Amino acid sequence: GTAYIDGAFVPMSEAKISVLDWGFLHSDATYDVVHVWKGRFFRLDSHIERFLRSADRLRLTLPVSPGELARILAECVARSGFQDAYVEMVLTRGASPTFSRDLRDARHQLICFAIPFGWILRPEQREAGLSIVLSDIRRIPPDSVDPTVKNYHWLDFVMGLYDAYDRGAQSAVLTDAGGNLAEGPGFNIFTVRQGRIATPDRGVLRGVTRQTAIALAAELGFPLEERLVAAAEALAADEVFVTSTAGGIMPVTRINAAAVGAGRMGPVTRALLEAYWARHD
Ligand code: PDD
Repeated sequence: GTAYIDGAFVPMSEAKISVLDWGFLHSDATYDVVHVWKGRFFRLDSHIERFLRSADRLRLTLPVSPGELARILAECVARSGFQDAYVEMVLTRGASPTFSRDLRDARHQLICFAIPFGWILRPEQREAGLSIVLSDIRRIPPDSVDPTVKNYHWLDFVMGLYDAYDRGAQSAVLTDAGGNLAEGPGFNIFTVRQGRIATPDRGVLRGVTRQTAIALAAELGFPLEERLVAAAEALAADEVFVTSTAGGIMPVTRINAAAVGAGRMGPVTRALLEAYWARHD
């Protein structure tokens, strides 16, 4: 892969940050991930828009214009030579050249990179679907900022993933203090019951793929509600699917080792998944 760091393009192995960077020491950073499919970005504008909004909320200043950022991302992809790529943009607080603890002295650092596509669920595993656990680990969105700011506060997700591995599953969905569904490490969740789709609307990232799934549901005529979704609804659902840039629309066929509905990809998930990938041609 290829990275852009300190204003230059370098091979991934040469992309290095200071250990004094607040992004590394305090997760003081924001990021976004966009995918390139068959040589083309998918919804780049939405990702750059969210990145700029997140940066603004965290009082981070992008050292380049949005147009320049788009050109840097495209050049990372071009130099990497990948047709399908996972492209990340990162903005960290950086470090102060004088070791000052006054955050205003830090030099904000933009890092971009293109690497091979990192799937949550590989295309050949789609029919089998994901096996997840509903974890008791609480999702702790950084409310002091804004839960919809894309952030690296992932310790809850990491604990959730180990909970999943320990229980023989691939991934986890975390719940909030009220026992409602939140989200998983890198994806939003949807339930389907008697043809009606529901997805949590509080304390979760506004996923670009989530928005795409909502738009596709409207186009295909599936009723959909954005609301609090109790964890029990996932257990009683006919279908469950998750959405992410890192995989698109992905069926969940097992929760807590039990089959979801018939235990295979359901018709609503299939219709949305096919419509999603049709947009990539
Ligand atoms: N993660 N929720 C969280 C906490 C996420 O980190 C992500 C994306 C999503 C899905 O958002 P989108 O549809 O815009 O990708 C939901 C990226 C892919 C990652 O960290 O790799």
